[in-house]
Amino acid sequence: MRQPGRFVTLEGMDGAGKSSHVMTVARILEASGQTVLITREPGGTPLGEKLRELLLNESMDIETEALLMFAARREHVASRIQPALAAGQWVLSDRFADASFAYQASARGIDWQRMRSLENWVLGDFAPDLTLLFDLPASTAVERTSRRAPEDRFEKEALDFHERVRQGYWRRREESPARFETIDASQGIEAVAQQVNDVMSRRLRQWGVA
Ligand code: TMP
Repeated sequence: MRQPGRFVTLEGMDGAGKSSHVMTVARILEASGQTVLITREPGGTPLGEKLRELLLNESMDIETEALLMFAARREHVASRIQPALAAGQWVLSDRFADASFAYQASARGIDWQRMRSLENWVLGDFAPDLTLLFDLPASTAVERTSRRAPEDRFEKEALDFHERVRQGYWRRREESPARFETIDASQGIEAVAQQVNDVMSRRLRQWGVA
């Protein structure tokens, strides 16, 4: 019988370098025989990508921002993530709901419990099987992003915003420790890739996949 697919997410501050490692994770999963759907948030569907464009570029009320993030997520889960998992594929998403707690709750200031109500309404008990948190000091992350032109309005935020993003991720990790693996993203790209390899190998063994 085909095993159900699993849902893996990558999270971290802007400048954590996580997007560079989406392919590292995908290659590991493919090498273990899985079919992998690679996707991202906000985005991942035609509607979600339109919402992404607005979310990244238009200033808006913070609750509007949170609701649009979750509207895009609802579409993503219903039309892509759950069908892929049901078909036995593995899904790898560059960001998911933890980002809304880190950015909209912890950094922007939306009440944490209110955000949990929204999460519960939109996702019920659907959650990733594994989340790789690319963690590093906010000052290092900001220093990295400041070397290039800001890609969106989140990257333009000041250091204290990114400190709160980091703390929001830590709080989510405290709430679901078994789901999280922390990657020290302050290291160079090769060393980070090695950590990703080690963590994925261990998890795949635990799941009886490798
Ligand atoms: P990206 O640069 O990783 O593609 O993400 C785009 C930005 O969107 C990033 O700065 C984080 C932000 N974001 C939120 O604020 N809340 C969310 O729920 C998600 C998924 C992303």
